[in-house]
Amino acid sequence: MNAALELHGVTRRYGATQVLRGVDLRVAQGERHALIGPNGAGKSTLFDLISGRARPDDGRIVANGIDITGEPPQRVARTLARSFQTTSVFGGLSVLDNLRCAALGASSSGFLDRWLPSRKIDARAHAMLDAIGLAERACELAARLTYAEQRALDLGIALATDAPLILLDEPTAGMNRAEATRALALIRATTEGRTLLVIEHDMDAVFSLADRISVLVRGRVIATGTPAAIRANRDVRQAYLGGVAP
Ligand SMILES: Nc1ncnc2c1ncn2[C@@H]1O[C@H](COP(=O)(O)OP(=O)(O)O)[C@@H](O)[C@H]1O
Ligand SMILES: [Mg+2]
Repeated sequence: MNAALELHGVTRRYGATQVLRGVDLRVAQGERHALIGPNGAGKSTLFDLISGRARPDDGRIVANGIDITGEPPQRVARTLARSFQTTSVFGGLSVLDNLRCAALGASSSGFLDRWLPSRKIDARAHAMLDAIGLAERACELAARLTYAEQRALDLGIALATDAPLILLDEPTAGMNRAEATRALALIRATTEGRTLLVIEHDMDAVFSLADRISVLVRGRVIATGTPAAIRANRDVRQAYLGGVAP
């Protein structure tokens, strides 16, 4: 079976800075894969390349067997690895309408699906509204939400789609403990049986959520493995975890 996502020797430079230095990464179908690494390691840049927001200088990106290297975001989204990140909230739309848009996008993958009844889209949007705890804020403009609420909505937008591959860049950043715990439970529940690539700095979250973890340090993946293997990996401890087991 094709991997959900494969990166081969992906490089990217910004000015004089070589941000990614030949990244190899494989995310299997149905796997929850976490990408960890110190600040500035190039994690978000890697997501930009996968989702088509920036082009790699070299290397190949293959999603579900299809080469998407250098494809623009709309095309990546349409053909396969529809991915959503922190920029997906429409501030001028209500919370519910943001979720309707996401659910609508989810229904347009096939010719016949375009005529999915609107009540199905509504049902999906409302289900997600409850799941992210924003039912009381359904009619509020997204721009008026608190930061944590916007992050929750962001997550809801990503999860309301039926995207085969979901990319989440630090989904719990800026949330307090209770909010982060709820967000993680939501991610866990809604990504069951789907493929997730998540950047996350909270180690407890990473170790409890991920099937496998890849560690990016200075633009290279230095290790990939199960949480137990990563925890025990000497290179990872030295390069990233400061010699202390997480
Ligand atoms: N659009 C850009 N223009 C210039 N430099 C960038 C750009 N995007 C990222 N970088 C640089 O790439 C490096 C890695 O950044 P980033 O991918 O955001 O790291 P991480 O997400 O792992 O913290 C940083 O030094 C950052 O300044
Ligand atoms: Mg980042």
